[in-house]
Amino acid sequence: MSRRFLRYALDVVLLGAAVVVFLTGLLVDRLGLSQFVLHRWAGYVLAALVVVHVATHWRFFLVPFASRRRAPTAPPEGAVVGVAPAVSEHVRSGPARRAALAAAGAGVVGAAAGWFVKTGISPDPYNGGDVGLFYHRESSLGLRSLLRSVVSWGSQPARYKRVAGGATVALAAGLPLPELSVGQALQQRRSLRDYRDRMLTAQELAWLVHAATAITSSADYRTAPSAGALYPIETYVAVSRVEGIDAGLYHVDVRAQALEPVRAGSVAGDLMIAGLGQEFLRTAPAVFVLTGLFQRTRWKYHERHYRYICWEGGHVAQNLYLAAEAAGLGACMVGAFFDGTLNDLLRIDGRHEAALGLVAVGPR
Ligand SMILES: Cc1cc2nc3c(=O)[nH]c(=O)nc-3n(C[C@H](O)[C@H](O)[C@H](O)COP(=O)(O)O)c2cc1C
Repeated sequence: MSRRFLRYALDVVLLGAAVVVFLTGLLVDRLGLSQFVLHRWAGYVLAALVVVHVATHWRFFLVPFASRRRAPTAPPEGAVVGVAPAVSEHVRSGPARRAALAAAGAGVVGAAAGWFVKTGISPDPYNGGDVGLFYHRESSLGLRSLLRSVVSWGSQPARYKRVAGGATVALAAGLPLPELSVGQALQQRRSLRDYRDRMLTAQELAWLVHAATAITSSADYRTAPSAGALYPIETYVAVSRVEGIDAGLYHVDVRAQALEPVRAGSVAGDLMIAGLGQEFLRTAPAVFVLTGLFQRTRWKYHERHYRYICWEGGHVAQNLYLAAEAAGLGACMVGAFFDGTLNDLLRIDGRHEAALGLVAVGPR
């Protein structure tokens, strides 16, 4: 392989890495992510490539500062302008200066575009606001919503979901309650993304599943509140490292407090990919995934169902946070994920039932 080809390949890879760093940085920024494994790796690759690039092209960087001199002789045959030649008469500083100016110009244009994008969307729902604001307006209670309520919103579906096939895993019942007070748990709670390197115990997992889903009254009411006691949230657990429980993706059978297998084997890597490369989704010993089964609430509350279902996902997630804290564990909510990828992993259609968020849990 010629030196010329190697330098060309280096430039192409360097440019590619810069583009990846830019795009992943944009994602990190726009989605408010705390960890993004692709961005970090791309950053390391870019830094290494820049060092190699500067080392192999160092003469080129001197060109913009070289004095303007006309080349007294023609360049030797086969010489390639801009591919690290010596600072000699046949290297012209013009293109290098223009490149530096173009780079500075691109930076200014990029900053201006960023400023424009930030301020370009109207925060006013009546003046071209986004779909979220539009939904909020259209789901407000009022005369129009009363008129719409005469339309049929379908019938009430089954109250409990079961996943058929495979042996279920029973979780321990009647666990001793942790001693930490709610006040202390509220004070201490922080989103945890780095977990101690030990497995979760089956008891700890049972406690978390209980906090998220358990039925705690004879009227079938549960640990978390629910609009109309309709319980639209379904809970899944991706087990990677839990003592006595095979790695796999499970659905929680609420009434039995048992895990029903959805997929065998660890899905930790798939979860990290679905979660936009957030690494703690791969390293956490268990990750809860909360979904909404829309018709459970929609038949009664019509277009407001989506508001209620998101509230309810939040109630369950906070139960998990506080229960984890009380048991000496930590949790981290994840709202940034590729919906289609996660729904496919859960084997749900994304229309009637869709993923709302994930909660990674692990030892502090
Ligand atoms: C709806 C929602 C979505 C979130 N999504 C993410 C996420 O995708 N990645 C992440 O690392 N943290 C996520 N978080 C956690 C927040 O970053 C965290 O709660 C916030 O920084 C405050 O920190 P604290 O929870 O430790 O008090 C999310 C939190 C909420 C409530």
